[in-house]
Amino acid sequence: MSAPSLAVRLAGLSLRNPVLTASGTSGYGLDLLPHGDIARLGGIVCKSLSLRPREGNAPTRIAETPAGMVNSIGLQNIGIDAFLGKALPELRRHDVAIVANIFGETIDEFAALAARVEGAEGVAAIELNISCPNTDRGGIEFGVDPEATSRVTEAVKRATRLPVIVKLSPNVTDITVIARAARDAGADILSLVNTFMGMVIDIETRRPVLSSGSGGLSGPAIRPMAVHLVARVARSVKLPLIGIGGVRTGEDAIEFLMAGASAVEVGTATFTEPAAAMRVASEIEAWCRARGVADVKELIGAAVRPAASPPPGASAG
Ligand SMILES: Cc1cc2nc3c(=O)[nH]c(=O)nc-3n(C[C@H](O)[C@H](O)[C@H](O)COP(=O)(O)O)c2cc1C
Repeated sequence: MSAPSLAVRLAGLSLRNPVLTASGTSGYGLDLLPHGDIARLGGIVCKSLSLRPREGNAPTRIAETPAGMVNSIGLQNIGIDAFLGKALPELRRHDVAIVANIFGETIDEFAALAARVEGAEGVAAIELNISCPNTDRGGIEFGVDPEATSRVTEAVKRATRLPVIVKLSPNVTDITVIARAARDAGADILSLVNTFMGMVIDIETRRPVLSSGSGGLSGPAIRPMAVHLVARVARSVKLPLIGIGGVRTGEDAIEFLMAGASAVEVGTATFTEPAAAMRVASEIEAWCRARGVADVKELIGAAVRPAASPPPGASAG
């Protein structure tokens, strides 16, 4: 069989294959260079960027958990100027789609960041990290409030012609309400999910391990919850989706595709294996080849469509 087609197109975002890095887990993509050819990836999603550099939270900022980790990095980043002036020019020398992930404390900050990214060469899409506090609304996260989600999406859409990916938080009662708010405000693509809130306590000191108390849980522990949420959103909103949460292998990625995602982001797996995302892309290809799947797009949504006929190779009984 000839090589399976792995290319996917999500709204205006074309990817060589459906595997991107997840924001915050490989810096600005450059950290991966010693570990492999980043052009083997569908795309790189950069660490969340703010208008000014941020130092993030005091240690301890990371703790291992069963099948995952909690983190409270506190959105440490180099700021938009250093990204556009230093990291982006290096990154765009590589033939890979670059997604700039941005966050602000106000809607105006989000719009200002989007306008800065719009003017830069080499960015394929903007991802909005809306799991951050909205200081105009007493610090409530944008992403838990449909109205704030809608307003921030609209403001960013006005500021840029690039495809806008709205990254959803799982820490809500009904994620489809937020997904529809983002869609109605003009989001081109949704990515889900960001981390689940979690806490680890050191029972000897009787204190939380993370300096911030609670943090965000990620890794294989969250994968079934994330797959469930992707399937829910896929049934409710007809936008291209990017699945995120605990992807470690090609098979994990294919689960997300079958739940309705057109691509995946690989995050925590990168901490133990920096080349994990590149390996996941190769494993998707090998899986398709072994099963005679000519085009990876055949898999998208397979598990959320009514089954017309048994898939090839499925045994009855
Ligand atoms: C250490 C760490 C830092 C993260 N930083 C960001 C960030 O800056 N912006 C963002 O949108 N998501 C951030 N995330 C969330 C990831 O992009 C991803 O949504 C989440 O970890 C679930 O995927 P995973 O289980 O593959 O890690 C971070 C996750 C981790 C573990």
